[in-house]
Amino acid sequence: MTVSSPGRVNIIGEHVDYNDGFVLPFAISKRTWVDAKRSEKFVISSRGYGRVEISSLKKTGKWTDYVTGVLKELESSGFKVPPVEIKIWSDLPAGSGLSSSAALETAVAFAISELLNLKLGKMDIVNISVRAERNFVGVQCGVMDQYTAVFSRKGQAMLLDTMKITHEYIPLNLNGLSFALIDSKVKHSLSSGEYNKRREETRRVLEILKKSSYRDVKIKDLEKISDTVLKKRAIHVLEETKRVVRAAEFLRSGKMKDLGELLYESHESLSELYEVSCDETDFIVEFLKKNGIIGARMIGGGFGGNVLVLDREEKIKRIFKKMSDEYFKAFKTKPTLMMIESDDGARIEGRD
Ligand code: GLA
Repeated sequence: MTVSSPGRVNIIGEHVDYNDGFVLPFAISKRTWVDAKRSEKFVISSRGYGRVEISSLKKTGKWTDYVTGVLKELESSGFKVPPVEIKIWSDLPAGSGLSSSAALETAVAFAISELLNLKLGKMDIVNISVRAERNFVGVQCGVMDQYTAVFSRKGQAMLLDTMKITHEYIPLNLNGLSFALIDSKVKHSLSSGEYNKRREETRRVLEILKKSSYRDVKIKDLEKISDTVLKKRAIHVLEETKRVVRAAEFLRSGKMKDLGELLYESHESLSELYEVSCDETDFIVEFLKKNGIIGARMIGGGFGGNVLVLDREEKIKRIFKKMSDEYFKAFKTKPTLMMIESDDGARIEGRD
């Protein structure tokens, strides 16, 4: 039996999902498919990365950790996982801010649950996948990616409260506009440490302020933070969370220009205050802004990957062409453009 799980884009709310913030993601129609069956040995095979036999559920530092991490977390949750063969294929690009790792983890957890009749609920799949990423892969991620991969619905964005772990759907009515992705072709590796460093910095701010959550922190409180780097990080968290709440209102009321403006503000904050952008994604966003595109910003963990763009499809395509030439001159690489369609979360294939 085959299950699949989608990648995601996040309209706004970056690097706040591990700081009790709000985020506004939706699943896209680029997915990872997983087929699991019982076997003599543990075998993981992927159309893109080849076939690997696993002798023990140990960390290897390779792509298979996303899979073995899930199997290991299932075992830690008390489920006995017998040897299985797991086949994987995907049309979701890896390392480009579209959350290919969460798609893989949630699909594997779901597939094993179905195969062994573990009856995992949606939230169990999210939790096991998040723990696999944190404990096994080593990225101290928030809950956004795995949650989006499981709970999304086609045609809807989700306003996710990462403190309460609840969400409400907001229809993706863009008033004739479209979302697109521009891939900078700069690959990031979240496990490179910068991600965990940001998480640590924002945690340190709470420690200094003696608060347990960013929900209890006001901008004024940050006067007590003398370290300028820590202060910048915390300002991003507080302002980005506010932007998400406003963005959700703008999406509900169809105020696309206002939404676009917030995307630019978010990008600037990620670039200047949170320092997770890079020259390439800054270049793309600046170019689009100068050429009158309604909104754009880097998405995901950062340090490369994709830029989310909001405007009319025809205009996005026209400006992209111009941008692409300039980008090539500056970075000797061609970016790519993809129009986005929303999609449902994890599902069993062949069943409605
Ligand atoms: C990665 C993490 C998420 C989130 C984003 C940044 O995608 O997996 O939990 O923190 O980065 O918003």
